[in-house]
Amino acid sequence: MNNFHDKVIYQAYPKSYKDTTGNGIGDLNGVREKLPYLADLGIDMIWLNPFYPSPQNDNGYDVADYTDIDPMFGSWDDFDALVEEADKHGISLMLDMVLNHTSTEHTWFQKALAGEKKYQDFYILREAQEDGSLPTNWESKFGGKAWSKFGETDKYYLHLYDVTQADLDWRNPEVREELFKVVNFWLEKGVKGFRFDVINVIGKDEELKDAEDGVGKAHYTDTPIVHDFIREMNEKSYGQYEDIITVGEMSSTTVEHGVKYSNPDRKEMSMIFSFHHLKVDYKDGDKWTTMPFDFNELKTILDEWQSGMAEGGGWNALFWNNHDQPRANNRFGDPENYPVETATMLAQTIHLLRGTPYVYQGEEIGMTNPNYATIDDYVDVETHNAYKSLLENGLSEDDAIEIIKEKSRDNGRTPMQWDDSEHAGFTTGEPWLKVPENYKTINTTTSETSKKIRDYYKKLIQLRKDMPIIQEGDYEAVELDHPSIFAYVRTYKGEKLLVLNHFYAEEDSIDIPKELLDMESSYLIGNSGDRELTSTFKMGPFETAAFLLN
Ligand code: GLC
Repeated sequence: MNNFHDKVIYQAYPKSYKDTTGNGIGDLNGVREKLPYLADLGIDMIWLNPFYPSPQNDNGYDVADYTDIDPMFGSWDDFDALVEEADKHGISLMLDMVLNHTSTEHTWFQKALAGEKKYQDFYILREAQEDGSLPTNWESKFGGKAWSKFGETDKYYLHLYDVTQADLDWRNPEVREELFKVVNFWLEKGVKGFRFDVINVIGKDEELKDAEDGVGKAHYTDTPIVHDFIREMNEKSYGQYEDIITVGEMSSTTVEHGVKYSNPDRKEMSMIFSFHHLKVDYKDGDKWTTMPFDFNELKTILDEWQSGMAEGGGWNALFWNNHDQPRANNRFGDPENYPVETATMLAQTIHLLRGTPYVYQGEEIGMTNPNYATIDDYVDVETHNAYKSLLENGLSEDDAIEIIKEKSRDNGRTPMQWDDSEHAGFTTGEPWLKVPENYKTINTTTSETSKKIRDYYKKLIQLRKDMPIIQEGDYEAVELDHPSIFAYVRTYKGEKLLVLNHFYAEEDSIDIPKELLDMESSYLIGNSGDRELTSTFKMGPFETAAFLLN
């Protein structure tokens, strides 16, 4: 595999990136139109969320045809033009492969429903238990039970996500063969990267049983056979190429498995997304609650993943935002009062870590949660399910909407804010999801705030390209239990990079260890002007600073 450690990946959510037809929905031509913008930012690869034919019950993660393009997003000509033009800018494409499940509208599922045995074996169908209860007591990750009636039969099909997302049976070799064909199809189209959706849940236990916890994760998450399946996929598809970058989305995984998935010797994937650091504002592990984030927990998790993955030779994807997450600016900072400081500090924290940074559309200009007033403004299926269940649990509408405002996946899905014209220049029509009200002050064209943030991202992206210490340096935390500062050192060939990140608005300071102070220091980058390293280093609101030490 090529060395991708100097690269930065940008995630564009096509539906919300740029609409070129006026139908209110972003499209492939919109991404193409913005290639100069992306090239200017300095990114190497664009991960595009699914644009395949889909009933859009889960915004395209319910795929009805893996090897076609939904006309809503454009045509084959548009796709080819995108690949070609991106290449001219030195940018390649990473596609989203949703191989754990298909839409129930996929022809495979439809044929299964029509009675074709071959396709029934593509899915996980089971009869009710003797007492008439569902085949297992597992829960769907989107609320409710994980089984639904399979047509007019006496069977049920498994869906770990929405009822319209039927889980495929990866234990069936024919299924694997079909799915590897899909990956190869896109490789032949010039795609250079893949993001594998929820890939660590593809290996369900051979015998499906009730879960003791009534949830079921242990019966399908990180099972030993998942690694076999991924190695086989590597061998039969992307592993045959030199320069492909792959990232697995790992639901509730562990460092131990993270290492296995991403250590190059095992020939599975280039890197993984893990999510533990984005659950530090879940009260008792429940997402649909509100709570200030637990800073100590956040640092402990980042540190565990940095150290553990390095030790085992694994590789982390580094990110704060994606299409499933509320905006990190709102969760971990104060975008109202300190928009530039918040955004640049968060960016620096992860861009100088060991791993591959992902920039999610809009974070490079300081976009925030939209704070919609009513539930009707939200589109996401998970959000609506959660709202219903919050009300059922006795919350008032007002209390429920406060939680939705902070936790909904739509927070990250709002249209990209290009300028200060109507609908932020995203569309000339009615946007499928409302544009946040702050587009006049946060946008790529007229906003000074956004410009400062974007310039900072450009510097961070360039630094990674220029500096082996950022690409390859070892990682070690400094004073891990500091109450407001996350500090770490990267080390490479005798040189050190000290990175200090202050996560709060109140001033604070950190004592710099003597062995670091004894070294010759030079200021590399920060959001508070040129600083000098002192034994008691004071930090302002959401300040970040990095020093090179020789
Ligand atoms: C992943 C996707 C998410 C989707 C889910 C089911 O978590 O990121 O958007 O809903 O998988 O496919």
